[in-house]
Amino acid sequence: MQIKASLQKYFDVECDALAVVIYEGESYAEGWLSELDMRSGGTLASLMAAGEFVGKSGETAYLPNPGAFKARRLLLLGAGKQDEADANTTRKLAGVAARSLRKKKARHVAFLLRDDAHAQAAAEGALWAIFDPDKYHTKDKEDSLLETYTLVGENSDAVIAGLERGAIIAEAANYGREVINEPSNLMTPIALAAKAEEVAKTYGLGFETLDEKQMRELGMGSLLGVAQGSVEPPRMIVMTYKSAVASDETVAIVGKGVTFDTGGISIKPADGMEKMKYDMAGGATTIAAMRAIAQLKPSVNVLGIVPAVENMPGGKAQRPGDVVKAMTGKTIEVINTDAEGRLILADAVAYARKLGATKIVDLATLTGAVSIALGDVYVAVLGNNQEWVDAIIAAGKATGEKYWQLPLDKDYREQIKSEIADIKNVGGRKAGKMTGAYFSRGFVEETPWAHLDIAGTAWNDNNKPHLAIGPTAVGVRTLVKLVCG
Ligand code: BES
Ligand code: ZN
Ligand code: ZN
Repeated sequence: MQIKASLQKYFDVECDALAVVIYEGESYAEGWLSELDMRSGGTLASLMAAGEFVGKSGETAYLPNPGAFKARRLLLLGAGKQDEADANTTRKLAGVAARSLRKKKARHVAFLLRDDAHAQAAAEGALWAIFDPDKYHTKDKEDSLLETYTLVGENSDAVIAGLERGAIIAEAANYGREVINEPSNLMTPIALAAKAEEVAKTYGLGFETLDEKQMRELGMGSLLGVAQGSVEPPRMIVMTYKSAVASDETVAIVGKGVTFDTGGISIKPADGMEKMKYDMAGGATTIAAMRAIAQLKPSVNVLGIVPAVENMPGGKAQRPGDVVKAMTGKTIEVINTDAEGRLILADAVAYARKLGATKIVDLATLTGAVSIALGDVYVAVLGNNQEWVDAIIAAGKATGEKYWQLPLDKDYREQIKSEIADIKNVGGRKAGKMTGAYFSRGFVEETPWAHLDIAGTAWNDNNKPHLAIGPTAVGVRTLVKLVCG
């Protein structure tokens, strides 16, 4: 689907369907809505008077014969109270329009912008909404005829700039979702590295991978301990964006890339285990964010690092009680082989520092505990530097991704003290999210760092009006905003 801009009057836009956002309390008797009402032959007034459509959030009305419009159909979208609405409201509604009009077999859709400054959000919402996870259906595929999605605004520069940026970000996110959605027999660590390489080549990023031997030489025993239970060789994937203007700042985005998490010897129950293919969502999201960053060209250097492994209980698998040595020299007692994310991140963040990272943000489907605490609504953020954490929360607010900070209190350290080694990889049932993050803290040392746990938010369990079931690539918009502004 192609996103376009138009400065025509909304009633002059030729299309299969025009979507119009209406706020709660807006009157059909005055202003532009009176004109829309008149053109609809009084339909709007009658819907509003009957209370069938008054602009409440979530309301929609589909007018098959709208009247004096060049659009063949009209879709009215309730947006709730105008003073509570922002670009995120537009993002969602542009998505609702795309998904619902696609179902109605529309080819050419238009969306009337109520504010040109929301063009980026609208483009993101529309493209994000039409992602389909049904790649491997051989029949009964969702039949999409959608070809164009036109944003109707007033100021061409603003609309075009917004939609171009929005398209870059949403197309990158959808690419990430495709990668996350791949089954683990196809998306192995080597396949994930090939995806990253393809992106790097296409968009002009530096690229390298470390293989097992190189990781052994670097002393990455923590990552290799996880990888040894699988026949799939691990990779440390590194993508590099270098700013054209000299910058002292190098932001490292580090994404957990466990291409399948069986739990290892501490094996997971069978029920729902198939979902553990998305345990590389942090890694795929990192690759996706790097793709957008390469196109938007910020003036800071950025590293995208993905430790990619498969966590399997093979004959060579590590055992509970094993002690491994991380790249920093720290020893770790592996109490539970299912807490593997923190083990691979330990070596990945250390490598990020070795490569010159001045700030680190990691993105990981790290704990089930985060879903219990925050559900599929908020990403948990914990970090060692409040300014950095605040910057992430602010970037999330601006882009419609929600973050909730949890405490990284030093008292959690007690729970992960080991009798035999410097640290152990789990700290019991209590505060599982905090002990998980505290574990990583020791490996970033003094570098400003924030950890984002996307286990609850990277996969959407039900189809929604603006969002398909399946991978969400949450984090792409935040990370792009964080580094590109
Ligand atoms: N990949 C899982 C976390 C996860 C759970 C992601 C549900 C997505 C959905 C992670 O590696 C894991 O197994 N964590 C354990 C940690 C525990 C052993 C301390 C967990 O959360 O149960
Ligand atoms: Zn696990
Ligand atoms: Zn995992």
